Amino acid sequence: MSEPIALAADHGGVELKTMLAKRLVELGYRVVDLGTHTADSVDYPDYADRLAACIAAGEAARGVLICGSGIGISIAANRHRHLRAALCHDETSARLCRQHNDANVLALGARLIVPETARACLDVFLATPFDGGRHERRVAKLS
Ligand code: RB5
Repeated sequence: MSEPIALAADHGGVELKTMLAKRLVELGYRVVDLGTHTADSVDYPDYADRLAACIAAGEAARGVLICGSGIGISIAANRHRHLRAALCHDETSARLCRQHNDANVLALGARLIVPETARACLDVFLATPFDGGRHERRVAKLS
């Protein structure tokens, strides 16, 4: 069965969320779309909380969060001890957050990066394994 990936965004990220959902389907993942679904203004912490609950419930192991800058939604996500959300602006940060930090959430700022870069970050985030080794101890100290 295909791996579920949870997706959530505020109104600033809703368009990019739609684009990345299509990409996930192309890659063979199952999308768990936690909203929002319109351009009406909402509060980004509520969507980080939805994704945290989804991962805690075992409905997905990994997720993507999007707001205008990616900042608010990544701060909100990292208040949950079981989430390691990484705000990424390029492929290098998307790769490193997996290799060194075992990030389980990719956070993106829809107003700060172009869609092609967001897609590249998603692809790299999903494909890159955790390096383990010396990073295990550091990641363990996060939670
Ligand atoms: C919403 O206007 C905006 O503040 C939000 O998407 C995000 O950028 C917050 O960090």
